[in-house]
Amino acid sequence: MKKSAVLDDTRTLRRIDKSNMLELCLKTSEYCKEAITQSRRFKLPKKVQVSDKMQIKYRKPRNIIVAGMGGSAIGGDLLHDWLLNRVTTPVEVCRDYYLPAYANKETLVFVVSYSGETEETLCALLDAIKRKCMVVVVASGGTLISFAKKLLLPYIIVRSELPQPRLAVPYLFFPLVIVMEKLGLVSGIDKEVGETIHVLEVLAKENSPKASLENNFAKKLAWELRLTIPVIYGFRQYRGVAWRFKSELNENSKVPAKWEAFPELNHNDVVGWGASEKLTKNFTVVLIRDKDEPPEIRNRIESTKKLALCKVAKVLEIHAVGKSELAKMFSVLFLGDLTSVYLAILLGVDPSPVKIIAAMKNEMRRNYNIVERLEKEFDKLID
Ligand code: F6R
Repeated sequence: MKKSAVLDDTRTLRRIDKSNMLELCLKTSEYCKEAITQSRRFKLPKKVQVSDKMQIKYRKPRNIIVAGMGGSAIGGDLLHDWLLNRVTTPVEVCRDYYLPAYANKETLVFVVSYSGETEETLCALLDAIKRKCMVVVVASGGTLISFAKKLLLPYIIVRSELPQPRLAVPYLFFPLVIVMEKLGLVSGIDKEVGETIHVLEVLAKENSPKASLENNFAKKLAWELRLTIPVIYGFRQYRGVAWRFKSELNENSKVPAKWEAFPELNHNDVVGWGASEKLTKNFTVVLIRDKDEPPEIRNRIESTKKLALCKVAKVLEIHAVGKSELAKMFSVLFLGDLTSVYLAILLGVDPSPVKIIAAMKNEMRRNYNIVERLEKEFDKLID
């Protein structure tokens, strides 16, 4: 069998993809629909009495922070990138144990962890409460939801059966959008969301395992990427999407990858491509393109191809599909996700398990059990 034919052989796909990542990934449009319906049922309280001494009032925030790590943080990046040009309230993603110094009672903090067990996120929750931020918790369960219940904080429990947090992106993104809608910060999103779901449905068919390699963009891209280190170049509303693609290549395909964004990459990253060809020929650059990309960005992309990318193995492009910003962002995200799963299969690795992440988390807990300490601090808060 020709090596590329592996991707058209359903038996091989199933044998390597033991947890059915591909099929689950293809359901992204369904996840979006379910996430929106579930989040619309959520009621945001006017206030919460955490303890005798502490009350948190929920109203229009001055700024927004999304606290989370890895697959649970990326929804925050999507929110940030999508709303950059339309909402004046600043949105920041916090991938750390502690919130930035400006966080206070006028800050809305989404505390997001799919498993509900990530120590950085649990710690950020405590920090947010201490600063009396308007906290909304999003998780599938775990310690995070137990803490939220204990402190009477508003929470959204999302579908828990997905084998990996990174599959749950719609469940970790749409609740944030809907809560913002409830607070009057965004409006009129239905058409855009509808188009996003439609685009994802079309792309799922076009890039399904049944669509053969020559007519299947994601399979083709995986094939092109298989022998080199992928470097994803995004811009503006595709920064989070580029980051996501890089992370999916790491976690699903188990390959090193990196991402950068225009215009910043023109001020440092491009210099690296001047290295010896022995080094640069190990990389393939994937450019995220949009038919409506601003002229100054288009100019930079074209000039970068001409002046800086002459010695890399390949320069490839991934084109956004759709009209609205959300549909276009999700189209690239989805194609990137599928590509990373096909690449895993090509490389003969099961896309789902991420043993080293689990091992790191266990090692951290063994050496310094921060969660036990947090439990004590939470108890002190409500006493
Ligand atoms: C695993 C994954 C990781 C996790 C991260 C945080 O699929 O994508 O990046 O998302 O380790 O864990 P959670 O999402 O459970 O807070």
